[in-house]
Amino acid sequence: YGPLSTARAFAATAGAAQPAASSREVLALDQGWRFFEGDIPFPEILSQDDSYDNAKAGKAWGAAAPSFDDSDWADVRLPHDFVSFQPIEADANRAQGYRRRGVAWYRTALRFDPADQGRHIELQIDGIATHATLWFNGTVVDRNWSGYNGITIDLTPFATFGDDLNILAIRVDAHAMEGWWYEGGGLYRPVRIVKRDPVHIITDGVYAHPVPQADGWVLPVEVTTYNSGKTAAGMMVVSTLEDAEGRVVASGQAPVSVPALEQGVARLDLAVASPRLWSVEAPSLYRVQTRLMAGDRCVDAVTTTCGFRATQFDKDKGFFLNGRPLKIKGVCVHQDHAGVGTAIPDALWDYRIRRLKELGCNAIRCTHNAPSAVVLDLCDRHGLLVMDENRQFNPSPDTLAQLEWMVRRDRNHPSVILWSVFNEEPMQGSAAGYEMVRRMAHAVKALDTTRPVTAAMNGGLFTPVNVAQAVDVVGFNYQQDKYDAFHAAHPNVPLISSEDTSAFSTRGAYVTDKDSRTIAGYDDPVKDWNTHRAAWKAIATRDFIAGGFVWTGFDYHGEPSPWGWPSNSSFYGIMDLCGFAKAAFHIHQAQWVTDRPVLALVPHWNWAGREGQPIKVMACANMEEVELFLNGRSQGRQAVDPYEMNHWMVPYAPGRLEAVGYTGGKVTARAQVETAGPAVALRLTPDRDRLRGDGLDATPIMVGAIDAQGRPVPLAQDMVTFTIEGGDIIGLGNGDPNSAAP
Ligand code: GAL
Repeated sequence: YGPLSTARAFAATAGAAQPAASSREVLALDQGWRFFEGDIPFPEILSQDDSYDNAKAGKAWGAAAPSFDDSDWADVRLPHDFVSFQPIEADANRAQGYRRRGVAWYRTALRFDPADQGRHIELQIDGIATHATLWFNGTVVDRNWSGYNGITIDLTPFATFGDDLNILAIRVDAHAMEGWWYEGGGLYRPVRIVKRDPVHIITDGVYAHPVPQADGWVLPVEVTTYNSGKTAAGMMVVSTLEDAEGRVVASGQAPVSVPALEQGVARLDLAVASPRLWSVEAPSLYRVQTRLMAGDRCVDAVTTTCGFRATQFDKDKGFFLNGRPLKIKGVCVHQDHAGVGTAIPDALWDYRIRRLKELGCNAIRCTHNAPSAVVLDLCDRHGLLVMDENRQFNPSPDTLAQLEWMVRRDRNHPSVILWSVFNEEPMQGSAAGYEMVRRMAHAVKALDTTRPVTAAMNGGLFTPVNVAQAVDVVGFNYQQDKYDAFHAAHPNVPLISSEDTSAFSTRGAYVTDKDSRTIAGYDDPVKDWNTHRAAWKAIATRDFIAGGFVWTGFDYHGEPSPWGWPSNSSFYGIMDLCGFAKAAFHIHQAQWVTDRPVLALVPHWNWAGREGQPIKVMACANMEEVELFLNGRSQGRQAVDPYEMNHWMVPYAPGRLEAVGYTGGKVTARAQVETAGPAVALRLTPDRDRLRGDGLDATPIMVGAIDAQGRPVPLAQDMVTFTIEGGDIIGLGNGDPNSAAP
């Protein structure tokens, strides 16, 4: 199967580096997988001898058996979303983008060096969609029932060393669905092997999140260790806080004793007088280097990232970051992208997060599940706030463990400001719902008291006993009409719009047409759904609403409302599935960006056949006034309407439409659209011009049609085929929710 490759976490990701001194090894398990699409039923057990063996450790049957011949299975690399390779079919599930889910198997073989004997060997899988059973060397080592939580498995007792290969077999049943959106299937997030000393810091074992004091800051560091060795150990935990330049800002130590096969916890406090604060504009990060020392020997070391920021939700004044009011300008984000489904390389997440920063967004809500770890690293680094959300609303042991896993993994991130325990649960207005949330909130507080707990409610707010009474911040999904009444009835409760808008639009379309299933981007209400403009106005004009999260930042596969087949992905995005801007992008930029002039014009100006007929023109602007010109003739100057945008009806004539923005009477911005000629060429624009070439790095490449003068051709709908040399095309997308072509 080939050797394990050394982990190559996305180079630019904060917190990825590990201090070199310890013997900890982190190995990416992205290569060397065999994959079988479909199920391989277990053989029926009939004989007495087979029955005797059936439930013995190491004696798994069928494709779970170490000796199973998988030589004719496909070779795949991770991340791998097997559902994304399925055809789009009319009789498959609409919510899942008309792609079939089903069962699949993965197997890999691992060789451990004899020198590894005695070390602690852990398998880390960041997510498997959806139900998974895992066997290692013929023994079931775990079962997992959600596609959104990571799992860690101690392989140490089962491992063999030297030339005997260790066989890991995983059966994935993605028939199970946890959502009403495209969820993907298989080993779609990173997988690693981590080798450590028998006495070591456990996974997610360093909790170091700064807390403001009346005078300065304290960084409480809590370190959980484990000992898989045979004798008790007494060690010293040493933590050092370093700034971005690597200068040591503070350090401290605490002893820890770790009995054999048990955990030991060390706690220490680092005082920091005046750190550089983390904010959405200047996301300053610090590194915490934590070492486990046996005398002078460093037996294990972990680097975590932290940021110094103070957050507060106020019942009257909304959200405060570092003592200053900050309206939360957020979007909801699912975890899939054009071409790759849920198997999103880190670099593609980076592209998505940068697109959101460009939008002027300052927050994301991870709907409706904990995100891949890289998402939070990127939010820390780029300066986005996060509402981190749990998938399963259920305080029973299995599902409560998923919530606890999320909080343990994510509580060091300065970006994370809210824990959300659910989205739109039918039991939200009942006493049972209240009791369930009370328990879940309690579990969260046991792990992190610094952030409020919320729940995204779309009803039940006014019943005698309901979930709003068990959370710190009440999340409203839609229900703008109840903001004032709820605030009046519960004046001491902080509020946020956990979800709003759900407006439909097709990128590049400015005519709504049922036959072609396109929806114009002017943000007109469709049925009685909200618009981008009305939803934001309701938030922006009320101080007591901390902010909101637009449904959604990007389109996603599945949930193709308001249509169904053959539409297969959503129409809600501010951007399409590829991350291309719809008109809503410009509307939100105009509403949200305050540190630079924003001026954009819609629609395109290619309306052959409509000469002389009025075309609706919208300018999205954030300055004081805006004037529109067609071929140099003014169509009128207007005071900018920051909520509704500015509109003109302009009789169409080909040429150049220009908007000029003014502040204090001076021109501060210009924007234009021009009538383009026929498409004569393609322009390819890579997001980055270099790739690491390590099998994990990737870059989106934008493809556009241009006319003879190099202008974008907005109506081009040509079929394009691609080949590549020196790399792989991992996916293609066109952002059109009505297209089944890649
Ligand atoms: C919300 C729900 C989202 C999405 C949206 C579509 O009620 O929370 O997941 O389904 O509706 O409008």
